[in-house]
Amino acid sequence: MRRCFLPGILERSPQSDPVKRKGFVIAIDGPAASGKSSTAQMVGEKLGYLHIDSGSLYRAATAAILRRDPDPSHWSDDAVLEASRGIELRPARTSFYPAMDGQGIEDEIRGADVTRHVSRVAQMPRVRAWVNEMVRAAAAGRDIVVDGRDMGTVVFPSADLKIFLTADSRERATRRLRQRGTPTSEQMIVDETKRINERDSRDARQTVPASDAVLIDTTSLTQQEQVERIVTLTDRTRS
Ligand code: CDP
Repeated sequence: MRRCFLPGILERSPQSDPVKRKGFVIAIDGPAASGKSSTAQMVGEKLGYLHIDSGSLYRAATAAILRRDPDPSHWSDDAVLEASRGIELRPARTSFYPAMDGQGIEDEIRGADVTRHVSRVAQMPRVRAWVNEMVRAAAAGRDIVVDGRDMGTVVFPSADLKIFLTADSRERATRRLRQRGTPTSEQMIVDETKRINERDSRDARQTVPASDAVLIDTTSLTQQEQVERIVTLTDRTRS
């Protein structure tokens, strides 16, 4: 099979293949640190569905271009796609994860440098097209839980279940700091809330709930409760 110009993607989109079995798709969208990825992964584990974190691909592309050229004023769609040639999505036991030139890059893509620049890369239309195709190719024919900003609107408009998770930005900041496992001061919460609000505004264009999404405000829910809600909604939708 021939390769198309976008790195890591087979030319024929599996979504357009009418004979391919359609899997059940749960799309979970929401703003920064709303708990999408961890929730999606836990839902996937409960249901036996694989998880795809679309944000991990925007992060991987950002890590790739940062390795080539740390000056964002030089970045273009072409430069980012060229730098991203070695990126692929690999299936593991519960989730797909991005690898670059055959190596896992989890620590690098979660670093502060990538987080600072990822929204800029995510505004590039051809980078968005590349991520969308990678995600669709990984999902094809599978039962899948996919998370991001535009999974229910752009990437899987016919998803079987769409969820939009929200939470108060201070609560999201507190959760993100807790995730890091280091002691947290009031000033750190204030600073992190500011960073999250800034990323929310940069990502606002693509972070829109689908008209048929179920909105879940998780501010006062435990992670277990939000996972249970989505599993119950899935059971109802499937039966
Ligand atoms: O987990 P967190 O909310 O920090 O972000 P992420 O899901 O890892 O996504 C990182 C960045 O990728 C976001 O800030 C967006 O700029 C971008 N993104 C996007 O534009 N569309 C998606 N479907 C997923 C992520």
